[in-house]
Amino acid sequence: MKVGIVGAGMVGSSAGYALAILGIASDIVFVDRNEALAVAQAEDISHAVPFVSATTVLAGGYADLAGAGVVIIAAGVSQKPGEGRLELLERNAAVFRDVVTQVLKAAPKAILLIASNPVDIMTQIATRLSGLPAQRVIGSGTILDTARFRSLVGRHLGIAPQSVHAYVLGEHGDSEVLAWSNARAGSVALRSFADQVGKPLTEATRGAIDDGVRNAAYKIINGKGSTYYGIGAGLARIVKAIAHDERDVLSVSIVTPRVGDVTDVALSVPRIVGAGGVAADLFPQLDEAEFAALNHSASLLKERVETVKL
Ligand code: LAC
Repeated sequence: MKVGIVGAGMVGSSAGYALAILGIASDIVFVDRNEALAVAQAEDISHAVPFVSATTVLAGGYADLAGAGVVIIAAGVSQKPGEGRLELLERNAAVFRDVVTQVLKAAPKAILLIASNPVDIMTQIATRLSGLPAQRVIGSGTILDTARFRSLVGRHLGIAPQSVHAYVLGEHGDSEVLAWSNARAGSVALRSFADQVGKPLTEATRGAIDDGVRNAAYKIINGKGSTYYGIGAGLARIVKAIAHDERDVLSVSIVTPRVGDVTDVALSVPRIVGAGGVAADLFPQLDEAEFAALNHSASLLKERVETVKL
């Protein structure tokens, strides 16, 4: 599958690198208003290819996106130390007004994969601007937060993160919801497994894991200026599910008709992802507190997206 990547910064290039290393895409085309950057990223990644795959990696203009099955949009500004994702909205909305139109002109059949933050609102903006069905405009959403959640729980319990079945829901951001109540280790309820292995999920442990997930990006940004490897791999994971029609369950963001009391808002719940984009939503059973938190997250996002004039 040919994959376009608009925005050759650290997130876009990390996604391109992951796609090339994993051999997920047959062709990758970088597009960036900074042409020199796009060429350099394509060149650099193409020098990794001979070690691992047969991916063709190029840089070009929007017209070179023709035939792409997926176009990743990672264009725009990213958080500075201490800056919240929602503060990027106005600047990135302006970028999207141009980018989305150009992408669809070149690749009208592509699935749009949104990475720019605030990703849920940017997903809703891209859906509106493109006029595409919601199922074909997918935001990376909480796929990264879910990975962080599984990684920290796995580390606590001494098991592989892939064997932790737990999801983060709602906003990819400060109001996200860690769905503890239906989390499992293998096929065993998490709390019971934790007790069985003598590593109980105490209030303090759950609090530390919640902090580690919710504030991961802030900590990494303070240390190195931005995050990119985690989100790059998450984007590649979503592309793989589409390219191979995996119908895997991933927590991604699309415009959702109703979440609690809120209608028409983009946020993450577990969804089946395959060739056509999102095939179905799998709303998890939540306890009262989790449901209220998800409703709050949805209300926050709805409030913010209504401030955007397209
Ligand atoms: C993060 C960015 C991708 O959470 O929002 O690392």
